[in-house]
Amino acid sequence: MSRFAQYKHKHKHTSSKLVFLLACAGLLGVALFADVLWFSSSSSLYSSLSIASNWALEKSGIFIVPKISTKEADKATEDKKKRVPERFVSATFADLPAPDLQWERLASAPVPRLDGAAIQIKNLFYVFAGYGTLDYVHSHVDVYNFTDNTWCVRFDMPKEMAHSHLGVASDGRYIYVVSGQYGPQCRRPTAKTFVLDTETRKWQTMPQLPAPRYAPATQLWRGRLHVMGGSKENRHTPALEHWSIAVKDGKALEKQWQTEIPIPRGGPHRATVVVNDRLLIIGGQEGDFMAKPGSPIFKCSRRLEVVYGDVYMLDDEMKWKILPPMPKPISHIEFAWVIMNNSIIITGGTTEKHPVTKKIILVGEVFQFHLDSMTWTVIGKLPFRVKTTLTGFWDGWLYFTSGQRDRGPDNPQPKKVIKELYRTKLSL
Ligand SMILES: *[C@@H]1O[C@H](CO)[C@@H](O)[C@H](O)[C@H]1NC(C)=O
Ligand SMILES: *[C@@H]1O[C@H](CO)[C@@H](O)[C@H](O)[C@H]1NC(C)=O
Repeated sequence: MSRFAQYKHKHKHTSSKLVFLLACAGLLGVALFADVLWFSSSSSLYSSLSIASNWALEKSGIFIVPKISTKEADKATEDKKKRVPERFVSATFADLPAPDLQWERLASAPVPRLDGAAIQIKNLFYVFAGYGTLDYVHSHVDVYNFTDNTWCVRFDMPKEMAHSHLGVASDGRYIYVVSGQYGPQCRRPTAKTFVLDTETRKWQTMPQLPAPRYAPATQLWRGRLHVMGGSKENRHTPALEHWSIAVKDGKALEKQWQTEIPIPRGGPHRATVVVNDRLLIIGGQEGDFMAKPGSPIFKCSRRLEVVYGDVYMLDDEMKWKILPPMPKPISHIEFAWVIMNNSIIITGGTTEKHPVTKKIILVGEVFQFHLDSMTWTVIGKLPFRVKTTLTGFWDGWLYFTSGQRDRGPDNPQPKKVIKELYRTKLSL
């Protein structure tokens, strides 16, 4: 029986317990810090900056539920009855109110795809790799043509290239594909890195990343390919390293990756956007599923994850700046964003697990980050909640395809891996 099941079994008044647990979470500095320590990054930079993250989290009204044993909870509840006033705490795992959008369903992708990658070059949408099922990964690219709304081309990826959780960036012709997980289930990442010339559809190799990374934040900025964070080889431990290499026309101009200023908070599944000559990193998480020790098939097993809504920016100063956090913690948005009218649009994702049931909770909102005012708004609802969806924008239409959707309007837990493609006319 799970800890919560025992808990529920013993006590009927679970909802007041929940309020109490959440109220406890108000004292989250300690809890969050404990979680951070749990990830056992020992660098002093990491701990000093996690204080900055705490600050950002508190500012946004985001609360993380501390670990609390049943016995402690019982005792604390008694104490609470005596003296602690109830307080309202935002339910970060709940859907946010959002206007409806009219979604139109178009031709589905040739395959269902989870944790793939996408790059839009003009009217063509390149959709890479991903899991078909947990035991089967794709090793090809599908291309969608936004002009005639057809899936028009399919071609193979190199055999040694990772199959999911890739770091991908493009200059408008060449697409760089960095590291990522090699194989199905929870296999390890590879350091191998490639570049695709989209005009000839030929692949070349690039210098390997100094170490393999799982779902690293990757973007091209000022002539250099930047690779930041992600998880380390075990898929779970957040990495803080930041490397870059000079590139031009699909070629590395340097033999090796250079070390850059580490990222304040590590982990996978973030959106990485270059806009107005600045590099932004949005959302993400610390921790992820990892292979069950000794499992010959590297069977995935769940580990503690902390989802966050932090936004970090690099500019001329080459120091990380903290921008206003997302309306709630969001992860699994690597390719779920587009730039539109001096704003960044983000679709779906996952948020903090449900504090009581511990279930994974998907996100169904469309967010907009206004770059002039540095503010977030919720601009609409997707037709369902979906994570790691792949998003494009063409001729006034916002498109998304792939990812894993919810179980239904009343159940935000992940279920089906999708191949459906939808679009909505945006006018903001
Ligand atoms: C995309 O569609 C347009 C309109 O039909 C067509 O002119 C163009 O060649 C297509 N591109 C590709 C790569 O198929
Ligand atoms: C972007 O801004 C332009 C000019 O203000 C406007 O005409 C256009 O409709 C906007 N695009 C969207 C998708 O809202």
